[in-house]
Amino acid sequence: MTSTSERSQSLLRAASLAELQEKGQLLVHLNHQTITLFYSRERVYAIDNRCPHMGFPLHGSVCQDGIVTCPWHYARFDLASGGTFDSWADDVRSFPVQIRNGEIWIDLAPRVNPKAHQQQRLQDGLEQGISLVIAKAVIALLDLGLASMELFQTGLAFGTRYNKAGWDTGLTMPTCLMNLLPYLEESDRPHALYQGLSAVARDSAGASPHFRVHPLPTTNLDFPTLKA
Ligand code: FES
Repeated sequence: MTSTSERSQSLLRAASLAELQEKGQLLVHLNHQTITLFYSRERVYAIDNRCPHMGFPLHGSVCQDGIVTCPWHYARFDLASGGTFDSWADDVRSFPVQIRNGEIWIDLAPRVNPKAHQQQRLQDGLEQGISLVIAKAVIALLDLGLASMELFQTGLAFGTRYNKAGWDTGLTMPTCLMNLLPYLEESDRPHALYQGLSAVARDSAGASPHFRVHPLPTTNLDFPTLKA
C-alpha cells in the first residue's frame, strides 16, 4: 500500500490546464515515462502513451466522450480507468490526476499489484485463445520473478478444467515442453512456455468447464462396493 508521503512524492506537475483545454491532448515526459493528457467532457485524463496492444503511441488518437481509440488497430479504452473494450489489447495504464491552481499534477505511483494483473491477463489469454495476450503475460510474469512451473500449473489447471476431449494434445504439448525446459537455452524458455500455453488455449476454446466430483464423505469403503 502506498503511504501519503510516498504518494505526494510521486505527484508531478505535468502541464497547464489552459494549454490542455486549448489543444485537447498533450504529450508530456515525466520521470522517464511518456504520458498523454486528454481533455474530454470537461475532465482531465492521463494515460500511458504506449498502446498496450503493440506499443505504438496513443498521442493523436481520436477521443470522444471519455473513450479513446488507438489509430493503429482501433483498440478502444475508457480514459477514466484505462480499461479496454477490446480484450486483445489489454488495459492501458491510467494515472490519477489533480488540478491545483490551474496546473495539472499526475500521480506516478507504481501499479499496486502488477503480478496479479499479469496473472489475470494470462487467464484472459487462455480463455479467449489470444496468443499475443498469452505471450505478453508469459514474458511479463517471468520478468516479475514467477517460476516457469507456476505458469505451467496455470495452463494445466485451465486445460483440465476446460479441455473438451480430456487429456489431449493441448495438455501433452505443455507437459513435453516443461520437461524439455531445463535443456533449453534460457532465452528460448519463454517461447517454449508460450507455445505450450497456446496449445492449451487452442484445445479448450469455447468449452464449458468440468466441475469436480467430490469424493464420498467416508474413507472406509470396501473395494467390492466401489467396484459394484
Ligand atoms: S497498437 Fe494500438 S491498437 Fe494496436
